[in-house]
Amino acid sequence: MERLNCVILAAGKGTRMRSKIPKVAHPIMGRPMVRYVVEAARSLAPERVIVATGYGKALVESCLEGAEVTFAHQQQQKGTAHALLATVALLAPGDILVLYGDVPLIKTSTLHAFIEFFRRSEGIAFMTTVVEDPSGYGRVIVDDRDGIVDIVEESEATGVVSGIKVINTGICMIRRELVSLVEAVTPDNRKGEYYLTDICKTAGRQGIKARAFFHKDAAEVLGINTRKDLLEATLAFRNAILDRHMENGVTITDRSTYIEADVTIGPDTVISPYCCLMGRTEIGQDVFIGPHVVIKDSIIENGVSIEGFTSLDGARAGEGARIGPFSRMRPKTVLKRNVKIGNFVELKNTTMGEGSQANHLSYIGDAGVGSGVNIGAGTITCNYDGRLKYRTTIGDGAFIGSNTEIVAPVTIGKDAYIGAGSTITRDVPEGALAVTRTKQRHIEDYSRRKKKCAE
Ligand code: UD1
Ligand code: CA
Repeated sequence: MERLNCVILAAGKGTRMRSKIPKVAHPIMGRPMVRYVVEAARSLAPERVIVATGYGKALVESCLEGAEVTFAHQQQQKGTAHALLATVALLAPGDILVLYGDVPLIKTSTLHAFIEFFRRSEGIAFMTTVVEDPSGYGRVIVDDRDGIVDIVEESEATGVVSGIKVINTGICMIRRELVSLVEAVTPDNRKGEYYLTDICKTAGRQGIKARAFFHKDAAEVLGINTRKDLLEATLAFRNAILDRHMENGVTITDRSTYIEADVTIGPDTVISPYCCLMGRTEIGQDVFIGPHVVIKDSIIENGVSIEGFTSLDGARAGEGARIGPFSRMRPKTVLKRNVKIGNFVELKNTTMGEGSQANHLSYIGDAGVGSGVNIGAGTITCNYDGRLKYRTTIGDGAFIGSNTEIVAPVTIGKDAYIGAGSTITRDVPEGALAVTRTKQRHIEDYSRRKKKCAE
């Protein structure tokens, strides 16, 4: 295997996105665009992956935190040839494969075929494809077979040339010794940019023919320039992600479901229509997820059942837990094994011990709830005094009657009972019954007398 350098050009602004953030930092299925390109590059096991950054440098580099890449700084964005030159000092020995940060759908298998094609060339190869509407792309003028006469950029293309449907994908390969051709590029075009594509013509003058590798699947190699292109790429990735999970044994009952790139799902899990699974979410096996469920950065253990219209963010659901419908698990919620959470229950920064349940209409925040606890309908932890947050502790086996307010900080002892409708402001001892409501009294014959008054 000959040695290889991958250079990823990612210094441009991406004006057509109309965005304040650099184009390559825009996420597709939860992952910054440029990371897909870095992964494709890494899959080729090159000597080095060098990313040229410039516009929004800090943000682009933070998108690639932890990735095995070297950054090259392109101070001013003067064109693709200029960007490649910014990386030259960092190259290891070996040929140069140039990828674009805004061509994220590229597959490893395609790159392997391209590299093989390049090895048989005279030292320069560009990947091309055919599109119905070539506007925006460099038009590739080929000779009899796959020899490139010239690549004409959009701004220079007129007449017959502008109608050429063979376009440059941007992906190209250059033998190391031919970098001098890149150095010789001049900005004599309408935009005053250093076009990497200009090396084809100058190579030709030196008797070296650049070669066009033709790739049939245009969708895979198209560049993202606009928000519309971004959506097209999102849809392509989204379907590919669903396919991958199905291949791994996950049942997906509708393509409306949106699963971001970094989510993992175990076999025999069933996912209903219109779900959104995002961020660093891990879902175990034999899990059921009902319709319209939103899960972000959460861990769902094996055998959990989540009914429709439920949302989890930064939460953890233990084995066999049952959640929803219509419930909301906010950050730092931890449900231990077999916990039951019903409709209109909101939990935040709360641990619920094994087998505990809150089945209807409750808010439990900043609480440590033991195991086997029953939280009655309408229970509220009053954890906020307008300034600070306070904790509630509820011991194992406690029974909280319906419509209880627990004014934190407070501790309810093991096996204690709270009478329905109580407002708890002091600690409740273990095994005690606490009731704070007023006694019931009856005013006899009230209804009849009231009616009579009105007459
Ligand atoms: C480029 C190609 C064009 C091709 C198209 C495919 C050139 C001259 N043109 O045009 O033939 O059809 O891609 O998508 O190569 N970049 C830098 N520094 C710069 C300029 C650009 O790093 O100074 C990066 C951008 O971040 C982007 C990539 O290079 O990732 C392509 O730049 P862009 O300006 O989008 O080039 P196109 O006009 O699309
Ligand atoms: Ca582009």
